[in-house]
Amino acid sequence: MSLLEKLRLDRIPQHVAIIMDGNGRWARKRGNDRSVGHERGLDAVRDVVEGACDVGIKYLTLYAFSTENWNRPKEEVQALMSLLVYAISNETENLNKNNVRLLTIGDTDSLPPEVQENLEQSKSRLSKNTGLDLVLALSYSSRWEILKAVKTIGSKIGDGSISSDSVTEETFTNYLNTSGIPDPELLIRTSGELRISNFLLWQIAYAELYFSPILWPDFRKEDLFEALYDFQQRERRFGKTSEQIQNENA
Ligand code: FPP
Repeated sequence: MSLLEKLRLDRIPQHVAIIMDGNGRWARKRGNDRSVGHERGLDAVRDVVEGACDVGIKYLTLYAFSTENWNRPKEEVQALMSLLVYAISNETENLNKNNVRLLTIGDTDSLPPEVQENLEQSKSRLSKNTGLDLVLALSYSSRWEILKAVKTIGSKIGDGSISSDSVTEETFTNYLNTSGIPDPELLIRTSGELRISNFLLWQIAYAELYFSPILWPDFRKEDLFEALYDFQQRERRFGKTSEQIQNENA
């Protein structure tokens, strides 16, 4: 029985987030420039997006460029930005065929104008699609996002447009970039690193974590299915006891 057949399609997480890590190491191991790893990483993105569509994941968030990534060597940042432009312009029609909508989170105003223009065109071309929502985290960091939310709320309380009592866990999420998107149930990180790296810190409060040793350029939809299968074997308790959960499911 294939892994896909073993998956329970009625228990696929609605939202999967991925920290795509290991591009640089993949390239260096082969004596190549790090940017070659990012280019091959795009093959993994294509396959994993297709896999997410195959099993009916509703939201797939990919950590494509963090706020901290701006500190990388100038040539690598430029190569990543060019790759983004290339990827967006070349993949939009394929995404459209798969009924994918494109969303972004992060400080996208800080991206080069060419990247911003391509993103806007692609988002608008795909805006009517109803299948997978592909969320690209670009110039994103969770602390940046939370701080921005706190500042907006602070100024609204200051000018009297909202009261501090109205700020609840639910209303707070409306100020995050992910407003309207349910929290990820599963967070995957590739390349064997066991860190969260400033990614969706608020949103992953109850996410299941899955760490894969595979370097991102080698990651394929079967590896996503493996992570989903692992997720389906877990008991999600949300602070309750195992007995409570079993009674609820009986
Ligand atoms: C982390 O690997 C990966 C990135 C910083 C970039 C991710 C970008 C892509 C996969 C390219 C295309 C993406 C889209 C969505 C169009 P690393 O460089 O930190 O690897 P290392 O830890 O081995 O150095």
